[in-house]
Amino acid sequence: MSKNHHEKIEKSVSLLGIFTVIAISFGTLVQITPLMFMEETKQPIDGLKPYTALQMEGRDIFIREGCTNCHSQMIRPFRAEVERYGHYSVAGESVWEHPFLWGSKRTGPDLARVGERYSDDWHYAHLMDPRSVVPQSNMPGYPWLDSNILDGKYTTRKLEIFRGFGVPYTDEDIAGAADAVKGKTEMEALIAYLQSLGTALK
Ligand code: HEC
Repeated sequence: MSKNHHEKIEKSVSLLGIFTVIAISFGTLVQITPLMFMEETKQPIDGLKPYTALQMEGRDIFIREGCTNCHSQMIRPFRAEVERYGHYSVAGESVWEHPFLWGSKRTGPDLARVGERYSDDWHYAHLMDPRSVVPQSNMPGYPWLDSNILDGKYTTRKLEIFRGFGVPYTDEDIAGAADAVKGKTEMEALIAYLQSLGTALK
């Protein structure tokens, strides 16, 4: 492009705007389109299990309580991250996540592989009062989760909806969903969810 044309575009807000949008759209397409055709971004990794009914309820409590505001679930493929958290996150771990909770805000540590790292008792103490186990923690406590009881009213529907998205729930999973959570505390559900995170790929 001659100098004249270039100058014309740079000096006109509307032209510059239009060309900027074209450039960004093209860049986006180039980055995103191939991912839709790559098998490895669509296939679940070996050993990936759908959330149990209780873990599914725990996941919704995780979202409701805003845990995502301080915790990401995405280990980036950098040495510092892998040494701290374990194997970096791969797409095949997230194919049944709707929506995925990768995030990027890290006031607290990444939780993508926190499953089985601590005991259930540790999580219980930590969620009731984080300072009881990590004195310098600035995470809030969530003691009400221990007295909120699940009734399972929507659990069946949640599993059905996920099955609609392609998550391989069986008829028995769905039939037993409400009974599997009824009477359990929200705390138990949240801990069951946390203990499942990242365990398919260790
Ligand atoms: C205001 C920010 C904030 C919020 C909200 C928050 N956390 Fe945290 N979380 C932290 C910080 C900071 C730490 C590190 C200190 C500690 O272990 O308490 C942490 C640590 C953790 C750990 C231990 C991780 C590890 O690898 O040691 C878990 C598990 C956890 N949080 C779960 C949760 C859950 C579940 C929720 C929602 C119910 C939640 N957090 C909400 C800030 C937060």
